[in-house]
Order: sequence, then C-alpha cells, then structure tokens
Amino acid sequence: MGYTIAQKIIKEHLVCGEMVVGNDIGLRIDQTLTQDATGTMAYIEYEAMGIPRVKTEKSVAYIDHNTLQTGFENADDHRFIQSVCKKHGIYFSRPGNGICHQVHLERFGKPGKTLIGSDSHTPTGGGIGMLAIGAGGLDVAVAMGGGAYYITMPKMVRVNLTGKLSPWVSAKDIILAVLRVMSVKGGVGKIVEYGGEGVKTLTVPERATITNMGAELGATTSVFPSDEITREFLKAQGREEDYTELSADADAVYDEVIEINLSELEPLAACPHSPDNVKPISELEGQKIDQVCIGSCTNSSYLDLMRVAHILKGKTVADGVSLAIAPGSKQVFNMLAMNGALADMIAAGARILESACGPCIGMGQSPNSKGISLRTFNRNFEGRSGTADGQIYLVSPETAAVSALAGVFTDPRKLGPAAEIELPEKFLINDNMVIAPAPVEEMDNVEILRGPNIKEYPKTSPLTDSIEASCSLKVGDNITTDHIMPAGAKILPLRSNIPAISQHCFTVCDKEFPERAKTLGKSIIVGGENYGQGSSREHAALAPLFLGVKAVLVKSFARIHKSNLINAGILPLTFQNPADYDKIKLGDMLELPNVKKEIADGSAVTVVNKTTGETVIADCELSDRTRAIILAGGLLDYTKENS
Ligand code: F3S
Repeated sequence: MGYTIAQKIIKEHLVCGEMVVGNDIGLRIDQTLTQDATGTMAYIEYEAMGIPRVKTEKSVAYIDHNTLQTGFENADDHRFIQSVCKKHGIYFSRPGNGICHQVHLERFGKPGKTLIGSDSHTPTGGGIGMLAIGAGGLDVAVAMGGGAYYITMPKMVRVNLTGKLSPWVSAKDIILAVLRVMSVKGGVGKIVEYGGEGVKTLTVPERATITNMGAELGATTSVFPSDEITREFLKAQGREEDYTELSADADAVYDEVIEINLSELEPLAACPHSPDNVKPISELEGQKIDQVCIGSCTNSSYLDLMRVAHILKGKTVADGVSLAIAPGSKQVFNMLAMNGALADMIAAGARILESACGPCIGMGQSPNSKGISLRTFNRNFEGRSGTADGQIYLVSPETAAVSALAGVFTDPRKLGPAAEIELPEKFLINDNMVIAPAPVEEMDNVEILRGPNIKEYPKTSPLTDSIEASCSLKVGDNITTDHIMPAGAKILPLRSNIPAISQHCFTVCDKEFPERAKTLGKSIIVGGENYGQGSSREHAALAPLFLGVKAVLVKSFARIHKSNLINAGILPLTFQNPADYDKIKLGDMLELPNVKKEIADGSAVTVVNKTTGETVIADCELSDRTRAIILAGGLLDYTKENS
C-alpha cells in the first residue's frame, strides 16, 4: 500500500509510535515559528527549560500581532523576544517585516520538512509541501529544545481538484467551498491533502490560502504536493536548492475523498459568525457594506494584492466605505511600491496599513456598530473585530475590492475578462529585517532584556489524589478561544503578563468570572460541544490555570485547546453521557474523589455533584505520555522531570 504526502513526511520524521490512526506519534521537528502574542510566553517557557541553544534546523520569531504600541508593554515584549533569540539561536523577524505565515512561506518554508508554530494558521506552510502544524507555545518551546512533537495519527482526507477556476473566482472560494462541505468540525483528527489535475492551476501563494484556512476545518493540517510550480516559486525566491519533489503514491489510501470541480465554483462568502456559514455572493449582491479590509495571513500575497490594485486602478472607493489594505510582508509591500500598484491603491482611497496582522487580530479598524465588514481574513467569530455587534463576512480579495468600489456586495465576475497577472520570475529579496542570532561563542555575553511586563509562568503542582471545587462557569457549544481569552488592542499587550491578562478571561461571556474564580481558589468549568475551537492561544489555558481552574468538563474539545489544557496541567474531561451536562449548574460544589488513581489507571473519572447528590461519569482520553504530563502538573514540570 502506498503513502499519502502527509504519511511520507510523518514516516520520515517519526521518533516514536506507530502510524496507525488514533495512535499517539512523536515527530522530529525541523522548523519552528512563533508570533509575538504567543511567542513571549513560549520563550519564557523555553528559558525555564534551561537549554542553551535551539536544536531545530531553523527557528524564527516573528513580530506581527502586537505592533500597535500604545504603551510600554509591546515594546518590552519585542525587546525581550529579540534578546532571547540572539542568545539562544533563533532568527528574529522585526516588526514591519510581515505576517509570520506569509514571510515563512516566502523565505524559510521547505517542502518535505516539519514545522510547528505557536499560531493556529501555521498550516499555511502546507502550501509549499510542508507538514506544518499549529501548536501551543509550550510545544514549540519543547521542540526548540530538541523534544518531539506529539500528535494523534490523523485520518487522511483527499480533496480532489478538477477543472480550472473561472475568471475572478479565487483560491479563497475553493477553501470556502471545502468549508461548506466539511464544516468547522469536519477536519478534526484529519489531514486534508489536495490532489488532482486542478492543483497544477494553482500557484504556491494560492495553495497557501487554502491550507491556511484548513485551520478553520479543525484539521491537524492541510498539504499540497511539491511540484514544478513549487520549484518555480522557490526559484523566484532565490531558494531553488530548497526544492524537493513530493507527491502521494498512486495507490495511497484515503479515509475520505471530496471532489471539487474548480470550473463550477462561484465567488463565495462566509457569513457571520462562522467560517462555514457559506453563501454565494450572488445571494448577497446589492446589500450595503460599511467596511472592507484586505490582508491577513490568508490573502495578502503579491498576487492577491496585484489583483486588488488592478481592480482599484483609476476608481474611487464608494462613499461610506472604509477600505483598509495591509500587505502581508515587506517583500510584497516593497514590490507593490516599486511597480506602481501601491500608488493605484492610494489613489483609489485605500487606507494602507503596515505589514502585520492588524485588524485580523482586532488591532485597529474595528467596524462601526452593527457595521457590515467584508474581510479577506480567515475568521469571523463574534467580537473578534473589536466591535461586539460587527457583522463580518469572509471573502476573496477580488470580491472585497470590487465591493469596496460599489459600496454593496458585488460579484467580481461582473468585471468581465480576467486580468493577466502572474507571479514574477524573481521576487524582491532583501532579508535585512531578519536578524540572525549571535554565534555560539558570543551567546554568554547576550543579556536578556526583561521589562516589567514580563512575568513568570503561573505556578503548577502535581495532580492531587482528589479535587473538590465549585463550578465557576457554565457555557454552551462552540466556545472559541476568543471567548475564553479575548484579543484586541487593550488585552494583547498583556500576553507576557498572566496575572494581568487573566482579568479578561471569559469576560465576553460572563464579566464576573475572573473575580469569582479567584475568590473560589479552585474551580471547574462546564461546557458543551467543540469547546476551545479557534486559535492555538495557550493563554486560553494559562489564564484559567492562574485563576485556579482544575478541570474543564465538556461534551467535546477542539484539538489544540485540549492539548493546551493538558500542557497547563488542567484536566480535560468529557461527559460520558452528554445529557449529564444538565446535571451541573453554576455554583454547584463538585468532588472528584479518586481522580489521581482514576487518571493513573486510565479509567473513567467520577464527578460527584455535592450540591444535588447526583453523580456524573466523565472520560479523560489520554495517551501514556499525556497521562504522565497531567500527573506531573503540566508539560513544563514533565519536561523538567524527564530531561
Ligand atoms: Fe495574524 Fe490573523 Fe493570521 S492574527 S497570523 S493574520 S489569522
């Protein structure tokens, strides 16, 4: 039996476990990336492990999230990260150099390699044929220290692309079509692999748009083959030597096959408030819009923005529409500036933002109240834009640009024949915003710059024999990491300061939660299906840890958040009978009388509701390794114990 692309990379990097679906497997990691919002904590954790130099082939720290500096906090964080990088062997991508995934694709990504990143859209690297996975900051810290990264061996899904996109239908519409079929839960425990004749019609940045939003499927990652188109892209980036061919064997076996005929696709939009709430633009046409934002790690490549500039050229943004554009990298920005495309955007009335995440992470450009905002981004969860009742639609750059001009939802196919825009034969290469680490012999002279915003990792302790704690919060289905740990300009600068940031934990759902949890000392959160969906934000586990949350008892978990809870030493429990969710109310006193023994034995966990006298049985699905982590009190303690 042959192998899929992902299975080939896994086989090459397997350090423990068997490649059988559902088994825990350990992978050797070639590359890591961090962004600043999760990176500060990852480096605090890396330092706590006491390993002098990173052991990966390439580790890069990007500053792209918290670039809006309204106080000393972000600047302190950036200086801290830069000094850690210099000392410990990590490349530092300065603020202004661009969004981590866009820059990594351009300058560092290599087909056939493994990459983990402390950002959920790390699968963007799958566009260049990498096995690229979003992980918690602590996982990244461990990988930098030479430790393996553990995943559950996923199922393989093949998306078979046939045909060719019609003019003005784009890669974004492909992934929205996949989301419409698979939903935001459909990729859980799976790797989505693209194949078929249609793949040859897509450039690497277009493939990366698709793998980027594979994160919205809940998939472990997504991957494209590495072929002649990949070679051309790498050559244009001056890195042809990084090319290797990679394709699935003809007799590779997939657990699921999805057919997408590119010729039949039309422009689509993900409507509020979920990326899988997909409708054709033709059904929305004519509705008034208030704002358009073009950029993010999904759609800010050279090709994307050249198409936008072509649409805007010689026109004016509609009255009442605010158009903001953020090129994805300095490379893209600079090329647009040099070839006149930037001038076309400015002349049309676009507001040009720096090369960073910006509005995607709620850093500026929040829409007006109840405002309709068309964005080329990947997420439209409620409140993420910074406006609680903002209505966010996810669309392609082409739909965004043409709608910005018209002031209403507009089908870009109205533009007529497609523009002839191709990738350049040579990108503008200038890596002067990437700072190399100090040589090993000089590392001892590098001082770590620790400002007052850099606080320690919260205290952890080994699992106790029993737990007695109140239910401090009860929430419903599809709680996202944005609900648990909101982002936004006021909160993001506190990412390296857990005591301060925890004051915002769950305040989107319940303003009293942080105070209540702190007063209780020890507590348990109860939730519904798909708890913790969304980003890789480990602060969504670290803030509850600081507030004394000992366990989260839900109907089901999203993958990355469950592993972040385990890493933080918080018990991830699921109701054996989902109907038992109704047996626990806010404020009920719960007891887990034999929890340590039950976890150690791998048996079900008994939860006694001392307020009502009822008993609930919960599962805690753990591998041998994650069981040891929970017993030790979290991954940091486990790593210290085992290194
Ligand atoms: Fe940044 Fe948004 Fe991507 S926050 S990394 S542009 S998902």
